[in-house]
Amino acid sequence: MPDECFRHPRLAAIYDPLDPDRGDLDAYVAIAAELEARRVLDIGCGTGVFALLLARRGIEVVGVDPALASLDVARAKSGAERVRWVHGDATALPALQVDLATMTANAAQEIVDPSDWQRSLRGAYDALRPGGYLVFESRDPAKRAWERWTRGDSYRVTEIPGVGAVESWVEVTGVDGPLVSFRWTFVFAEDGDVLTSDSTLRFRERAEVEAELVVCGYDVRDVRGAPDRPGLEFVFLAQRPPL
Ligand SMILES: C[S@@+](CC[C@H](N)C(=O)[O-])C[C@H]1O[C@@H](n2cnc3c(N)ncnc32)[C@H](O)[C@@H]1O
Repeated sequence: MPDECFRHPRLAAIYDPLDPDRGDLDAYVAIAAELEARRVLDIGCGTGVFALLLARRGIEVVGVDPALASLDVARAKSGAERVRWVHGDATALPALQVDLATMTANAAQEIVDPSDWQRSLRGAYDALRPGGYLVFESRDPAKRAWERWTRGDSYRVTEIPGVGAVESWVEVTGVDGPLVSFRWTFVFAEDGDVLTSDSTLRFRERAEVEAELVVCGYDVRDVRGAPDRPGLEFVFLAQRPPL
């Protein structure tokens, strides 16, 4: 079950305006070009920002996400008809043969349960053509990003056209080994509505992810950093072996 902030229509509608700088996606666009990908599967596509960026470049894109409200936002965007939107996750995909599968914006960390994670990696593998790549990022646990997820550091008021002012902040609610739980709060000035979204992310070690990829049949070709978040992220490039 995806988090409230992705599946509640009022929260899905403000996902993009709250985080309009998507410079994080530039590296993925560059990787798609580097791999000469013509067909891409974006797993956890959310509101479709990356899928639409690729589609505008003439790439055939399938976007999959379990949060219907986020997909509804994606489907309402200009150019959305060029993307095939699938409600679900990587464990139950239609038959595909893509060159590249992606999980941007730490979507991989949303898949918390170890068996769901393994089934998602296998689902992505099955969707790739032989020689195709799975590329995704995950925060380096050693950098302890959650220690900066405080009300003081995150509080802001965002003026959103058509919505009004929205106050938002995040607070950690628990740390249990690699699992970090936190709560986003959103206050809509327009009507005083207060919505919260509770999330848990899994912070995986680099070696752990590499081992899981190998178990699922991938060759790990590279582990890079995210250029916009230097030193904070692992970006895995895993290949389904060519025939
Ligand atoms: C932080 S958002 C990132 C959305 C999008 N990739 C982006 O770059 O804006 C994480 C996304 O992962 C999705 N998600 C949650 N659980 C998932 C799962 N098991 N499989 C695929 N996606 C999942 C959420 O619904 C949400 O849209």
